[in-house]
Amino acid sequence: MCQQDLLHAFLKGLPKCEHHVHLEGCMSPELIFQLAKRNGISLPDPAVQPAFESVETLSTRYEHFSSLDDFLHFYFEGMAVLCTEQDFADLAWSYFEIAHADGVHHAEVFFDPQVHLDRGIPYETIVGGFSEGCKRAERVLGLSTRLILCFVRHLPVASAKSVYDQLINAQHFESGVVHGLGWSSSEVGPPKDMFRDIYALAREKNIPLTAHAGEEGDPTYISTALELGATRIDHGIRLVEDEELMQRIARQGTLLTVCPLSNVRLRCVKSVSEVPIRKFLEAGVKFSINSDDPAYFGGYILDNYCAVQDAHNLSIPEWRTIAENSVQESWIEDSRKAELLEKIDVHVKKHLTLSV
Ligand code: HPA
Ligand code: ZN
Repeated sequence: MCQQDLLHAFLKGLPKCEHHVHLEGCMSPELIFQLAKRNGISLPDPAVQPAFESVETLSTRYEHFSSLDDFLHFYFEGMAVLCTEQDFADLAWSYFEIAHADGVHHAEVFFDPQVHLDRGIPYETIVGGFSEGCKRAERVLGLSTRLILCFVRHLPVASAKSVYDQLINAQHFESGVVHGLGWSSSEVGPPKDMFRDIYALAREKNIPLTAHAGEEGDPTYISTALELGATRIDHGIRLVEDEELMQRIARQGTLLTVCPLSNVRLRCVKSVSEVPIRKFLEAGVKFSINSDDPAYFGGYILDNYCAVQDAHNLSIPEWRTIAENSVQESWIEDSRKAELLEKIDVHVKKHLTLSV
């Protein structure tokens, strides 16, 4: 085995935590066409949107997103074929099976209820299905999982507030069905602090908060998210443009959930070598490596780990730091953290013994 193959094998077995994956971003073109047929949903007319001609044309179109908003258009069209609780459960399960094979032991997964509610799908159907998928992954695959409800920035704040009220009325936070809140969708355009009031309410209830920021938007999107109470930042790659903020984030130990292949597909960077992995390591900024929308961006979590290795040539101790930080900053109990840290230790020691 050559050195690169050895490292890829090491990365496959390295115990991972995923913190940034949208379950709706796991809808492959095959599944979109299948569910459209099963549920009697019309996909966009190929005469108007040629990408929807076939699985192949749709897959090819995904290789040419021009921006975040260009991607989001396809992402929202794709998820519109989800109708029944079983559809949501099957989608979540399809993600967990692949994540498990990629060495994921703990997964914190996003979902976007507002967009489904807008199509007339009840809140209970969405959360019930996704939650069922999570429970199955815990039972059958031994993963720990957390559902993170994401507000979307392209819809009115009132629609986010209505979802928040449904979450609270259903006591889904208290029961652990939903663990935390995030925000996503178009970054530049809507007010940076549009969820200020909702985040203030959530803070009173100690709900863990995260936010997509610093993907296309400049570092002020990151500082605004922190001001509103986010304790984690999704993407955050533009943090390197503000040295002072970067030092503050390093000091506070705020985790960035970095998604390298997503950054390339959405043209935030030209290649994975431009994702500021080394700068973050040198500045002591904690980050995890994630897949974001794997069915759209050409790879699941292991593909992202391997792409980082190929572009940045990290050492085993550097990978150990990344893996350990991913565990430490996960939204899980200390006992689960201890279990996962032990698994990392065993895996790294085994690799070091094999490679001498
Ligand atoms: N950014 C913002 N919103 C999203 C993304 C993303 O990468 N993926 C799904 N919704
Ligand atoms: Zn995302």
